[in-house]
Amino acid sequence: MEQLNVGDVTAILRDELVGDSGGSLTVRGPIHVLEYSTIYQADCSRFEFPLAVKVCKDPATGRIDRATAKSQFLALDRVGSKMTSVDYGLPRTVSLIEDQAMLVTEWICGDSLTNLLFRQRTSAAAMRELLGRAGTWIRLFHSGHRLPPARLDVSEKIVLLHEARNRSDLHNDYATRAAALLESSAARAAAENLRRSWTHGDFKTDNLLVAGRRLVGLDVHVIHEGAVQYDVAAFLNRLQMTLFDPRAWRLARHYPSFEEAFVQESLREEGTETALPLAWIRLYMILCSWMGQQSRRTGWVRKAYLERCFRRLTKRLTNGLRRLM
Ligand SMILES: Nc1ncnc2c1ncn2[C@@H]1O[C@H](COP(=O)(O)OP(=O)(O)O)[C@@H](O)[C@H]1O
Ligand SMILES: [Mg+2]
Repeated sequence: MEQLNVGDVTAILRDELVGDSGGSLTVRGPIHVLEYSTIYQADCSRFEFPLAVKVCKDPATGRIDRATAKSQFLALDRVGSKMTSVDYGLPRTVSLIEDQAMLVTEWICGDSLTNLLFRQRTSAAAMRELLGRAGTWIRLFHSGHRLPPARLDVSEKIVLLHEARNRSDLHNDYATRAAALLESSAARAAAENLRRSWTHGDFKTDNLLVAGRRLVGLDVHVIHEGAVQYDVAAFLNRLQMTLFDPRAWRLARHYPSFEEAFVQESLREEGTETALPLAWIRLYMILCSWMGQQSRRTGWVRKAYLERCFRRLTKRLTNGLRRLM
């Protein structure tokens, strides 16, 4: 796809937001050119806040992705109407320009939790507090859409693991041992009813912005529904992967206290009996991400680095689940 330049985006937004009424409009960027999106920033005199302009794209083809833009915009509206807290929320929506796969929202002036993890000035105590707040964010997100509790759907996952093993996708001993443990612990993981809700779909420190007292979640997909532990597991797995990054080594040894703060808030309504289902989902999800990583095109240095991170985390999560058995 030919990337839109500032002039193109300005013309599109002028049509959509300003029209004949007059008023000023300035667009900057692209600020980020990412796999799934290109992000611009804009100021428009019709709004008292700056604007974020996200053009969604399909990473496989590079073409703009209208369906995703629409579904993300509707998700922001849907969840935003339920998350009404001043301190924990989502960017306000402004406009969906569907034919351009473009969604316009409020620009949040703040730092992502990932940037704060990498910043030298961030203390372990401050990060622990922020991660507790991340837990509150996801708990409020889940309380916006309560579904009847249900047991974990382990059998279809075991079938998928068998298929992966037959295709030789479980490419080393760590992965095969993890899959074997998932299978032998599946019945216990599915013994409890778990609270269910809509799922964020990409809950991680990159998608949480800190703007003063306000904690704002980005990139909500809300396509699936399931146990609340799915978002919690995805977040913790990703946090541990981020802490393997040399920029965050300084904070890595504090991970147990980070996890505790986050889990205490995110799963405040659950009892200790859900520790095993959480450990199960975490191991299952890291294994799926690892297998997914195998087929992605990545430079060899990055590939070797990721392989090492996945191996370390899979080993830790396997031991963690084994201890709960
Ligand atoms: N509303 C916003 N306010 C501030 N920054 C934003 C906003 N939307 C996106 N960004 C920036 O752009 C990045 C990518 O946006 P995101 O919606 O997460 O797209 P993707 O689906 O490609 O991950 C974010 O991590 C953030 O840095
Ligand atoms: Mg994102």
